[in-house]
Parts: sequence; structure tokens; C-alpha cells
Amino acid sequence: MSLRTDRRRFLQTGLAAAAVWPVLGTVRAATFTADPFALGVASGCPRPNSVVLWTRLIFPDTEPDPFTNPFAPIEKPQHPPLDVAWEIAHDEAFARPVLSGIDRAVPEFAHSVHVEATGLEPDRWYFYRFRCGDAVSPVGRTRTAPASDAENGRFSFAFASCQQFEQGWYTAYRDMAQRDLDLVVHLGDYIYEVSYGGQHVRSHQSGTPTLLYEYRDRHALYKSDPDLQRAHAAFPWLVLWDDHEVVNDYGGSVSPTDPYAPAFLRRRAAAYQAWYEHMPVPPIAATNFDEYRVYGHFGFGNLLDLTLLDTRQYRAPGPGEERAGSETTMLGTAQERWFDTTMAASQARWSVIGQPTLIAERDLEPGPGTRYAMDAWDGYRDGRERLLNTIQREAIRNPVVIGGDLHAFYAADLHEAAGTAEGPIIASEFVTGSITSNPPDQRAVDSIIAENPHLKFGNSSTHGYSIMTVERDRTQVDLVGISDRKDPAATAAVFQKFAVLDGMPGVNRL
Ligand SMILES: [Fe+2]
Repeated sequence: MSLRTDRRRFLQTGLAAAAVWPVLGTVRAATFTADPFALGVASGCPRPNSVVLWTRLIFPDTEPDPFTNPFAPIEKPQHPPLDVAWEIAHDEAFARPVLSGIDRAVPEFAHSVHVEATGLEPDRWYFYRFRCGDAVSPVGRTRTAPASDAENGRFSFAFASCQQFEQGWYTAYRDMAQRDLDLVVHLGDYIYEVSYGGQHVRSHQSGTPTLLYEYRDRHALYKSDPDLQRAHAAFPWLVLWDDHEVVNDYGGSVSPTDPYAPAFLRRRAAAYQAWYEHMPVPPIAATNFDEYRVYGHFGFGNLLDLTLLDTRQYRAPGPGEERAGSETTMLGTAQERWFDTTMAASQARWSVIGQPTLIAERDLEPGPGTRYAMDAWDGYRDGRERLLNTIQREAIRNPVVIGGDLHAFYAADLHEAAGTAEGPIIASEFVTGSITSNPPDQRAVDSIIAENPHLKFGNSSTHGYSIMTVERDRTQVDLVGISDRKDPAATAAVFQKFAVLDGMPGVNRL
């Protein structure tokens, strides 16, 4: 047993009752001249007895900016490892402490801190904070999941996607942070590697990242937003990725803009590592990010199961017409098998499947011809059929799919044959609009709705996010729109509501 494990165990038991910070270890932080907690705090992956706490120390006063200083070294000078104390309490003033410990923030992981706090009680709020040297972090609030056998009657979560930093303000997150929610689910495009579009309200201040420190800087820039920080500090999050966390439209080991595969895989590993370093996900021992698992399953009492799917890392690459048979997989063989097993074990009243985009077919061509977005499930028809077959075969009680990616809100009935409005409806589907990212024209969305009768609603003229409130007899989805993504003083309000009834798949517009 390492010294570090010893100390952690001691702190978790010996000092848990004391309302004081633990004494830091041998690696002490110096006095800070700038706030090392300027990226805020976050929590995630809530389980009945555990939750992950996250922060990352940054040192803006001592690190040269390679974009303002072109002679700065490619690899930034590194700070030494620093010990960071963490504390969980029942109350915001930390008068009733629950658990505390020390984690070592190391330069190899950009001084990020991932604490898996265990031994907590199910279905209750906790408060947490960090300390390093003379600096104390903002206070975050988090919530554990209800126990798997809990007879809970209500669970409410926000879901969001697509937050290009330059194209708008994060009014949606300011609104989200004030709501009564149990969880936030992010479905991808958390950062954008590219600058595009016009009328930017702010700037990436750097080019397209390909190296580890560049992806780190991009994540840090996004995390510097105070409204995004508020939403992270208010609720636990579950986080998926889509393509822009690495590069637009990549699939598996193939990128349309990186023709040399080994170079792309190095870039992908850098992007995956930076993603890990900035997300409230469990600590890992490995330092190899050639592969990194983000798919998973989370239970919230006997009311709700949430299954999150990775449609980027393992997908068969290449244009759809060239793929054949079972090669057209979005999830890869291992994840498909895992999905089958997970669905077979699912017992909850409502089963939400989160993935980055729209599963229902979307014919983009008005009139008799057809045209599809081959980067989405329409390019992976066999994989989609297997996924829908699994939902049917396992007789999932109330399957509801959530997604993002399209920069438009959609509501759809998922029929047995995903491209028709005929045959039994086997699931309900909701795609959330973008937080800020440039939308398609509303007229284009209107013509898609007219062309695809199983798509019941489409709105690309509003930015915002969605709230799903799950109750025993019905699930409601509220679409929250912001008044103007370019206005820092914009307001937010629910502009459309849907309901799904227990035992009756299909979306009902309220
Ligand atoms: Fe996007």
C-alpha cells in the first residue's frame, strides 16, 4: 500500500468528523498570485453511494501564452505536483462535514483533480470544495442517485449539446443553474475545435488544436465561462462526446482532415486526454488515451435508467455507400454487445438512451428523391436496426432516446422501421437544440418535417436546452429557448412542451 493511499484512508476516517481542512502532504502549494481555481468546480457520474468531484488548477500568471508570445516554447513550463484537499459537507457552510481527503494534482494530467467520493448516502444533496495552498475553490453542490430499489416518483434533468464559444453567450446555462434539477446530461460538442461563422461575440484566441496543450487550452477557455461554471457547480453532470471534441466528422480512426492515420490517432489521443482532464469523470490510472471509454449506464431508483452511447470512437469509418452489412456499425461490436446486455438487465420504469444525434431517419430531399446525412445514423442503417431490435426484443418498458448535434430541436416517433411512419412505434425521441452553435435555416427544417411524417416537430430558430421530468405515469420534455444568443443579457423561457405516457410510446405535443 502506498503512502498516498495510507494518507487518504486516514483522512477519510480520522478527520471526517472535524470541520477543519486536512493538513496537506509533503508536496505543498506555494502562495498563489492568481486564483488557481479559476476554471471552477464540477461533479459527475452520480451513483447511489458515490459521486466524482472535479477541478483543475491553472497558473495563468506564470504560463506564457504561445499566441501572444510567438517565442514561447511549444511545451509550456510545468508546475510541480501539488496536493489539493477536498471536503464534502451536508451544508453550504461546511459546518456538518461528511468526508475529506487529499488528491495530488500532477502536471501529466494538467493538474486536474478527479476524486471518486464513496460512502455517501443515496438520493441527497451534498456540498464540496477544494483547497490548495492559500487558495480555496468555489463551493459546488451535487446529488447522489437514488438507490436502485428506491420507489422514487420524480427525477428531472437537463440535456444539452453544441456550445460553440464564439457564436453566442451561455445564457442557457445561467438559466439552467437556477432550476430545480437532479442532473445535467451533455450529449456532445462541448468544445469546438474550429472557428466558423460570423458575428462572433468572443474569440477562441487561437487556431485549431492538434496538440495536447492546445486541446487543454481550448477546454480551459470554455470552462472559464461563468455561466457554464454555475451549471457545473449546481448539479452533477453526465458527459458524452461527439466529433468536435476532436475534429469535425471523424469516425473511429479516420478523420476527413487528417489523411495520415497515425498522426490522427496521436491527435485523437491528445483530444481524449484533454477531455478527461476537464470532465467530472472517474479518476483513471492509465496514461494511454489511444482508447478511452465514455459509454456507460446509470440507474436512478426503479424510476429511471440512463444509458449513454459513444457513437464516435468505435464507428466504422468512410462514406455510407461503401460500407456493407454488419460493418455499418455506429457503436462497434463491443459496445453493441454491452448495449444488449445492459438492456437485457434494465428493470426501470423509464429507460432513457442518450447518444449524440438523431436516430430516426431524416430524408433531407423534398419530394420523391432521397438524401441523407451519412455522418448520422442514416449512414449506419444496419447498426440502427440492431439497436432498435434490441429495444424491442428486451421489451424495454418506456424507451426514450435523447440526442443533440443537429443545432435544432426535434421530436420524433421511432417506428420499428426507422424511416417510416408505419408499423408500431417502439420509442420516443427528443433532440435538443444548440446552446449557441449556428443553426440551419428554419425553412429547411420545416421542409424536413413535411418530408418525414414520423418527425413531429422541428425548431432551429431557437437556441437553448431541454428539461426532461420523469414521473411514474408520464415523462415531460420542456424545451427552453433563449431570447438572443448574441445578447449577454438575454432571457430564457420554456417555449414548447411534450409528454410521453407510460406504456404508450410516441411524443405528444402539449
Ligand atoms: Fe454541434
